[in-house]
Amino acid sequence: MRRHEHLYYVLDQPEISDAEYDASMRRLRELEAEHPELVTADSPTQRVGGKPREGFVKVRHSSAMLSLDNALNEGELRDFDRRVRDLLAGEPYQYVAELKLDGLSMAAHYEDGRLRLAITRGDGRVGEDVTENARTIRALPLRVSGKLPRFEVRGEVIMLTKNFQQLNADRETQGLPRYANPRNSAAGSLRMLEPSITASRQLDFFAYLLLVDGKPYSMSHWESLLLLQEMGFKVNPKNRCCPDVGELFAFCQEMESRRDSLPYEIDGVVAKVDSIAQQDNLGWTAKAPRWAIAFKFPARQEETVVDNIEVQVGRTGALTPVAHLRPVFISGVTVARATLHNEDEIQRLDLHIGDTVLIERSGDVIPKVVRVTRQGGERRPFQMPKLCPVCEGDVVRAEGEAASRCINSNCPARLKETILHYAARGVMDIDGMGDVLVNQLVDRGMLKSVADIYQLTLEQLLQLDRMGKKSAEKILANIQRSRSQPLPRVLNGLGISFVGERTAQILANTFGSLDEIEQADEAALQTADEVGPKVAESIRRFFHEHHNKELVERLREAGLQFMQEIHKPAEGPLTGKTFVLTGTLPTMTREEAKARIEAAGGKVTDSVSKKTHYLVAGEAAGSKLTKAQALGVQVVDEAALLNLIGVN
Ligand code: IVH
Repeated sequence: MRRHEHLYYVLDQPEISDAEYDASMRRLRELEAEHPELVTADSPTQRVGGKPREGFVKVRHSSAMLSLDNALNEGELRDFDRRVRDLLAGEPYQYVAELKLDGLSMAAHYEDGRLRLAITRGDGRVGEDVTENARTIRALPLRVSGKLPRFEVRGEVIMLTKNFQQLNADRETQGLPRYANPRNSAAGSLRMLEPSITASRQLDFFAYLLLVDGKPYSMSHWESLLLLQEMGFKVNPKNRCCPDVGELFAFCQEMESRRDSLPYEIDGVVAKVDSIAQQDNLGWTAKAPRWAIAFKFPARQEETVVDNIEVQVGRTGALTPVAHLRPVFISGVTVARATLHNEDEIQRLDLHIGDTVLIERSGDVIPKVVRVTRQGGERRPFQMPKLCPVCEGDVVRAEGEAASRCINSNCPARLKETILHYAARGVMDIDGMGDVLVNQLVDRGMLKSVADIYQLTLEQLLQLDRMGKKSAEKILANIQRSRSQPLPRVLNGLGISFVGERTAQILANTFGSLDEIEQADEAALQTADEVGPKVAESIRRFFHEHHNKELVERLREAGLQFMQEIHKPAEGPLTGKTFVLTGTLPTMTREEAKARIEAAGGKVTDSVSKKTHYLVAGEAAGSKLTKAQALGVQVVDEAALLNLIGVN
């Protein structure tokens, strides 16, 4: 199985069909199930074994993983060569030229032939232990043969272009943000807390450095690449020995012209002096080796005209301006659209409809506008619409936010998302109302509004794919049960920007009814804890929007909980005082301290603001302490707190 894994994932020369491979893998699994004592950590079945983690442990590299200096054109490449020649004072030398893969670098440590530790580059000195995730990369052997008892392989983790495009297409249908380029998606995928997600991303690994005790192993870099290949690592077959700078530059040009036919993104060529003795002679600057250079390819750019700017509404209600371009061919792909992200971006570019612009394609199929190269004769400015192009609901751009949003909860563009949020666990808790069901209900027009949930009938549900009577009845019962969810959940369910679980609770507890909140002006709203101008404005705008008003009325008719008793805090010596806790207190846990403050009539909030009266700081207090000091908030310790309460 190891041999076939190597043939398939490293050499790209399988000898058996995928079906045969899968069958053998199944057989191996069966055997291992029968004989669990024979399962080893480096078995091909054990690539995804790790459990989800909380975070990554930091690990120091054996020697720094520094970056490379760049050469942006032939002249700079020749300058580099001249420096090498001068420093080597007449010695003959040659280069190894490698493709500069656009991914992220990783160090893999082996001991006794087994993969033991994989570390991301991090800041170059300290990276993160991603061993569990790296094990899922099939091109990275879990076990190698050879005479080296301990060694380290450094190389590039990448995602093939086709996997990247598929991933982005999947994310788009799931309403998730796209990754900007294969590098970001490789980096994101390697840092998943859940190794099975990393496995599903099908990352790849190309080795470019072999170290023993943090130092190059062979006396020639080319030889170490051959050795890596023999040991079973994937080494790029396009790498080439170049006897002089002329051939080196020719290689760069050749690769640049073949760039689009490669199955992965490259952003240049890395040239390294082959002899390790000469590398040592040349040495390092503070941030990069003097014996290597990255020849960077220019971005793939073309000029074209912006014929129009259309506004699209995403699943979260965000309005995205998209440039319609006069179609232009950029390295193998016809480009007719480019995202402009938001209003600020258009302003920054000073882009008007009719302008000629420079378009760049970088990895992703979605290109970007670099700059305006010529202003159009009859250029028209772009204006973000005041009403949503899909539903004519109000469009709002919150202070400090780049995105403009449609705030109609029932806007068809965002309806699925709104309903999923409304029905989610911890919100209205309508079990069974997930992706599959909501997609069907909205697509068949059975839900045009969140409020329609309460009008669904058994007959309607039974028309849906794979819906039996039992499950339909269960869903109706769950819907029925949601009518008694308390006010904070209803508020949260409405999907008002900046109003999540906590703010909803505070609002409900301050005002006692949805009607009070709906009628409160911004000043009144801000009397609630933790509600500042931004949140208050968002709430007021929401209830001002006429579709939302209608939604609220329909939910009222459906019999939802619009009222709640205001829970009055205890009266005591701390009444009217607001506290924030930080650091470790000498005798009390945070929970205890909070309970005692509340029992004495005080309030405890999460973050320090001008409204905070006291910061209770224990050991290892961090940014909250700094902030409290900056705002002039009184800082007390545990003993002083107990004094305030009147215990001592
Ligand atoms: S050599 C000192 N070789 O480019 C040696 N790097 O700016 C440094 N890269 O962080 C690395 N392909 O992520 C080397 N064949 C290759 C490479 C390569 C891609 C990346 C690597 C590094 C960055 C250097």
